[in-house]
Amino acid sequence: MDHTELTIRITAEGQESTVLTKSHEYRSLMHLITDKLFLDGFGECGGMGKCGTCIVEITSCTGLPTALERNECTTLERAGKTRDNLRLSCQILIDESINELIINIP
Ligand code: FES
Repeated sequence: MDHTELTIRITAEGQESTVLTKSHEYRSLMHLITDKLFLDGFGECGGMGKCGTCIVEITSCTGLPTALERNECTTLERAGKTRDNLRLSCQILIDESINELIINIP
């Protein structure tokens, strides 16, 4: 398996953090954010794509994030979050496509 180094910039609660990881080090972007940033109430359903608490706004991305798309559209619609740059982080895989990703956690 490929273990490319990845850099991700995350703004949460007004603080910007640069997070380093490797391809497939975490099951999803939500798992990485939970592990590195300890945000209250983030990722409540554990990555099932159902709770909508792991929404991130993608500010900049060089590739197209690889998605699992398990329940993602329905959950975003139910939460009234249908803008293209809003995604469930639990449905985004940690791979080369998200290197240099910049996200904001609304
Ligand atoms: S963790 Fe629940 S929808 Fe992503």
